[in-house]
Parts: sequence; C-alpha cells; structure tokens
Amino acid sequence: MTKIAVVEGDGIGHEVIPVARRILEILHPEFEYFTVEVGYGMWERTGCPCADREIADLKTADAVLFGAITTPPMKDYQSVVLRIRKALDLYANLRPVKGEGFDIMIVRENTEGLYSGIEEIGPDRATTLRVVSRTGSERIARSAIRLVQQRHGHLTIGHKANVLKSDVLFRDICTTEAKAAGVPFNDKFIDALALDILQHPVAYDVVVTTNIFGDIISDVSSYLVGGLGLVPSANIGDRYALFEPVHGSAPDIAGKNIANPIAAIRSAAMLLDYLGDRAGAGRVESAIGRMLAQGIRTRDLGGAAGTREFGDAVAREICREP
Ligand code: NAD
Ligand code: IPM
Ligand code: MN
Repeated sequence: MTKIAVVEGDGIGHEVIPVARRILEILHPEFEYFTVEVGYGMWERTGCPCADREIADLKTADAVLFGAITTPPMKDYQSVVLRIRKALDLYANLRPVKGEGFDIMIVRENTEGLYSGIEEIGPDRATTLRVVSRTGSERIARSAIRLVQQRHGHLTIGHKANVLKSDVLFRDICTTEAKAAGVPFNDKFIDALALDILQHPVAYDVVVTTNIFGDIISDVSSYLVGGLGLVPSANIGDRYALFEPVHGSAPDIAGKNIANPIAAIRSAAMLLDYLGDRAGAGRVESAIGRMLAQGIRTRDLGGAAGTREFGDAVAREICREP
C-alpha cells in the first residue's frame, strides 16, 4: 500500500494543500493518506514545532506532500523545513520553471552550503560557515546530469567562484562530472545568471547551484511564469521524497481563500511522477493548462477565482477527462 504523508503546515498551507490532496485522492483513492502536524500550530500546542516523532512518521511514508511553515517566534530557532530536509537527507531540490518557449529545471543542493547550520551569533559578530563537500557536490551534480540526459538538454553551473573558495570546489566538481558524463555544459556567475535567466530563459535547461543561490534563483525565476503561486518543487533523497510549493506560508494573504493553489497542485503532480504515475502527473498538468487557457485564475494572476473554487474547477476537469 502506497502511503502519503500530508503536512499542511501553516498559513496558506492550510488552504492549498487540501486542494492538492483532493486531486491526489481523486486519482489515487487506493493510496493511504495520513496527516502529520508540524510548524507554528504544533509549536503553540506543545512548545516544539517538530519533534522526533513527526520525523519518524514522515519516514514511514512513500512520499510527503508538504505545504509551508511559518517561522515560530522562539529563541535558537531551527527551521523545521531545514530539519526535515536534513533528517530525510533530501539532497536534491528540483524546481521546474516552465513557460511559453522555455523549460528550466533548477537543481538546488539542499543539505549544505550556507545552510550548514554551523553558525554562532555574538553581540558584535556573527558567523555562518558555508560548507561545500565533495560528496555533497558530486551527488547533486550527478542528479542534475541525469536530468540533462533524460531531457537531452544542457547544464548550466551557477556559482560565485570569483569570490568564494567553496564555489571553486563546487564548480570544479560539477565541471568534472559533466565532462565525464559527456553532457554539454557551461557555467555562469550567479549574479549575472539571475538577470540573464529573466532576459533569456530560452537559453537555460538544467541549472545546478548551491543551496542559498538555488533558493534565490528559484524565487527570481518564478517571475517568468506569473509568480510564486505557480512553482512547485521536489525534494529528493536516496530513500525519501517530499513535494512542496516553492512559496512560503504567505501570512499576508492567509485565511482569505485567495492563495493560488497551482504550485501545490503541481507539487502533487511531481509526487505522482516520482511514484511512477507519469500519466496521472500529465493529467494534472494539462487540467491546470486548460483552466488557465479558459481564464479561470486566482487573484495573483488577475482572475477572480478563490483557492477552493479554482481547486473545484481543476478537480472537475480531471474527473471529466479520463
Ligand atoms: P512567501 O513565499 O510566503 O510570500 C511571498 C509573497 O508571495 C507574499 O506577498 C505572498 O502573498 C505571495 N505568495 C506566496 N505564495 C502565494 C500563492 N500561492 N498565491 C498567491 N500569492 C502567494 O514568503 P515570505 O512572505 O517571505 O515568508 C512567509 C513565511 O513563510 C516566513 O515565515 C518564511 O520563513 C516562510 N517560508 C516557508 C517556506 C517553506 O515552508 N518551504 C518557504 C518560504 C518561506
Ligand atoms: C524555500 C524556503 C526555505 C529555504 C526556508 C523556509 C527555510 O525559502 O524552501 O525556498 O530557504 O530553503
Ligand atoms: Mn525560498
């Protein structure tokens, strides 16, 4: 029995994840779905936003559908999202940005870099250690290269090796792996890449980069497709996988039924693809495409549909179209 853990999290996670879950339930009523609570709500109830128990529950699932987490107001806060990514060793964060004439896959290293967690803060000085390891770089480079091969595309290595020694290692390892695999590749400084990807999205296919650069580049690139409400992601490791929108809990619009659920629905489609149901993933993607073509849109895209109403329309479309 395929088991899906569902984490709404906080804020608009409570609105967009039920929509995405319902679509999964329509396509796969035979899966077992179970809810795991982590985040702000959990912190309010127990004083802890995510305990070992929840990590253990997530590990029992074949895949996790995840919303977003609000940062709880606690001292020495450790991000729940980062804790889960590390605990499940979800080292490859795949963030597809697909639009008219371009199809970009951002491959973000997801376990180290500036998110090493090795840091300290004093009254006058704070430091964060940026850790780039050979093992970490080789495995993310290989994940990106596999995608290049599947897509018959090319690789762009995003880095800041002109300044950061850690990125010299990252760039060199990615270059060595790309040469060994015989895939076409180039490299670009991340600041220049951030602009060029907006000006010439067609020139990009798979982009591999370190943790925080991938975080920023993916939010920036969402501009190409209409904003954060549209971009999904997959967090993949060798044993576990978690699927979540790129956006956060959006407290500014939470509880108003105006959040765009497309990023969450697309994350559910990536989950189906991961579990081997490519046809189901395709049905979800094309239903979303038809909704947008018909002008059924949420407010961020200039439409009037609410989160639930948009979800209802996608669900109807999927049921109609076998
Ligand atoms: P955010 O992504 O939540 O929101 C940024 C902007 O985009 C806001 O104006 C928001 O209204 C808009 N937006 C986001 N998703 C949208 C959607 N589906 N439809 C329409 N508009 C949408 O980022 P933020 O405001 O910087 O962060 C808010 C909280 O979320 C913080 O506590 C942050 O730490 C957290 N966060 C969590 C995750 C995660 O859990 N994976 C990711 C990013 C941010
Ligand atoms: C994301 C988010 C997270 C990150 C935060 C909430 C820890 O911004 O998933 O893009 O920085 O990776
Ligand atoms: Mn982010």
